[in-house]
Amino acid sequence: MTLTDFHQAILEGIPSGIPTKKEYEAAINHAPKRKDILSADEKKLALKNALRYFSKEQHAELIKEFYQELKAYGRIYMYRYRPDYVMHARPIEDYPGKSMQAKAIMLMIQNNLDYAVAQHPHELITYGGNGAVFQNWIQYRLTMKYLAEMTDEQTLVMYSGHPMGLFPSHKEAPRVVVTNGMMIPNYSKPDDWEKFNALGVTQYGQMTAGSYMYIGPQGIVHGTTITVLNAARKISNQKDAINGMLFVTAGLGGMSGAQPKAASIAGCISVTAEVNPKAVQTRHSQGWVDEVINDLDQLCARVKKAKESKDVVSIAYVGNVVDIWEKFAKENIYVDLGSDQTSLHNPWAGGYYPAGLSFEEANELMANQPEAFKIKIQESLRRHASAVNKHTQKGTYFFDYGNAFLLEASRAGADVMAENHIDFKYPSYVQDILGPMCFDYGFGPFRWVCASGKPEDLQKTDEIACAVLEEMMLTSPEEIQQQMADNIKWIKGAQENKLVVGSQARILYADAEGRMRIAEAFNNAIEKGEIGLVVLGRDHHDVSGTDSPYRETSNIYDGSRFTADMAIQNVIGDSFRGATWVSIHNGGGVGWGEVINGGFGMLLDGSKEADRRLKMMLHWDVNNGIARRSWARNEGAVFAIERAMEAEPLLKVTVPQNVDDSLFTTLMD
Ligand SMILES: NC(=O)c1ccc[n+]([C@@H]2O[C@H](COP(=O)([O-])OP(=O)(O)OC[C@H]3O[C@@H](n4cnc5c(N)ncnc54)[C@H](O)[C@@H]3O)[C@@H](O)[C@H]2O)c1
Repeated sequence: MTLTDFHQAILEGIPSGIPTKKEYEAAINHAPKRKDILSADEKKLALKNALRYFSKEQHAELIKEFYQELKAYGRIYMYRYRPDYVMHARPIEDYPGKSMQAKAIMLMIQNNLDYAVAQHPHELITYGGNGAVFQNWIQYRLTMKYLAEMTDEQTLVMYSGHPMGLFPSHKEAPRVVVTNGMMIPNYSKPDDWEKFNALGVTQYGQMTAGSYMYIGPQGIVHGTTITVLNAARKISNQKDAINGMLFVTAGLGGMSGAQPKAASIAGCISVTAEVNPKAVQTRHSQGWVDEVINDLDQLCARVKKAKESKDVVSIAYVGNVVDIWEKFAKENIYVDLGSDQTSLHNPWAGGYYPAGLSFEEANELMANQPEAFKIKIQESLRRHASAVNKHTQKGTYFFDYGNAFLLEASRAGADVMAENHIDFKYPSYVQDILGPMCFDYGFGPFRWVCASGKPEDLQKTDEIACAVLEEMMLTSPEEIQQQMADNIKWIKGAQENKLVVGSQARILYADAEGRMRIAEAFNNAIEKGEIGLVVLGRDHHDVSGTDSPYRETSNIYDGSRFTADMAIQNVIGDSFRGATWVSIHNGGGVGWGEVINGGFGMLLDGSKEADRRLKMMLHWDVNNGIARRSWARNEGAVFAIERAMEAEPLLKVTVPQNVDDSLFTTLMD
């Protein structure tokens, strides 16, 4: 397809005629059939809702097809309207339009739907089983058209995938404001998502799916490497001891697919169970996992051999993770580190596959007998936890990987509660690792995308970022030296580790100062013509972006972890400090109703305005969360916010006074 054809296809938006029907491609990884939750009247409403995008004379033809889709898949994806061009991020200048910022957003949207990046590309799902960019293909088409037509005096308003329209604004305003799944709190239960998503009025945006900031599994490899490495450091301070430790986990999907690669970078042997053979195949073909094994006895033999020779290898087991935990307990295979990254934020609709059923049997049961499926899952979770408990009694360090494993296991009545019946037996990775070691100091998943699409630009940005960190390291306080050293090591190895899937993107954990200085250096390099434009962003899974009581804010102990002021403040603050686009979501990571999370994207174009915006916005974007963490009396955050106030006289944050515990002894007697 020529560039002109591509432009025409984008500018066409909703086609005037009905395009030819597309085959359902069985080779593509498709979203599972969603449960049949709508009443007959609600189905009519869903069809009316879908048809409102089309002219009246087309309704009679489309209604039949959309009804078939609703019956067959539980949703109306409007498959027929999938565009004919290849879906991938193009160099920014290849997009039609009047606004460079809008073009950057088009690039990021296409990257989120790239077949190499997206989990279920035809259902517009980027990751996490239900993390949607749009609800249907017409929303995609219409959004791209608006972006191609808009100017820097307008803002596009996105309601859960639906482009409400372009509204007059001004150059300093965000070009796009995204909300995903914002519900009245009482209507935020998992079945509400099923119902209102089937009606076509809301969607689950995950974290970076519906905010157009997903950069493939690389985004998570870095965080996972930091987590696995620091988990290993927790159980042994000796550097050599990490080499050859055994890490057992589950999931080779969108994010979980990063686990074997991260474990290898950290120096561990890893076994990752995955029930979906297509997901195994994807990660194996991308080189993210070294070996694939289908048989449990073979797996045991291979693991024993690897342990003996301290052979750092990553193994995918095609099957259920519960079987591994049980088999390893029986065979007395010692597991050093354990976790789980099945999608338990979405337990009833394909996020977790129960033990004892084949993948096909489970899919069948889920679609046709959802209640029986739910019972199977809860049985499986009880078995799962009991097998893990056998290992932890022998010394395995098990942590919850923020996928709601402990939450759902507890709801299923599994033995995962601590003696006080309030906390869980095992820590979340944020409570033990990411919170106190990273987030409290402002370190989080800063990322960038080279909008030229050139690998050499990415290499140059890696070098620039590395030079900035090395310079900062010279004067970094003791408290953050380890983080700085890990991040320098990461960026130095990034090219060699071949982490790019989709756009030329990089992730790098950095604190507020690091993010600002790296971004400033990029903007200067753009101005000098050394590199093309750069899109900055981050995962929502960060210092300030997410209020999630069992994950990002699980190490907040002042009772405020069930509040969501921080995430809301974050996105509002980013939007008037210069973000190119902002987004606020319900449910990212751990599930609908369980979390509020927000993010941003920012285009750097080498201008003075970009320099001003990046400093103002990134400073707020990190320090908002540090201030809140410090107010919750987290020591690292108190240290970090005091340091930030010294560096910036305009920053004045209320700091907590600690109460002497001895006062309570006499008081309560
Ligand atoms: N990687 C991270 O840093 C990180 C951080 C926080 C939370 N998470 C959470 O991890 C979860 C996974 O995310 P994802 O994007 O990879 O989701 P995903 O749905 O793409 O992948 C999960 C995979 O687990 C597999 N699976 C389900 N049940 C299984 C079982 N019993 N045994 C073996 N395999 C099974 C599924 O087939 C699927 O491929 C989510 O809940 C996410 O929020 C990840």
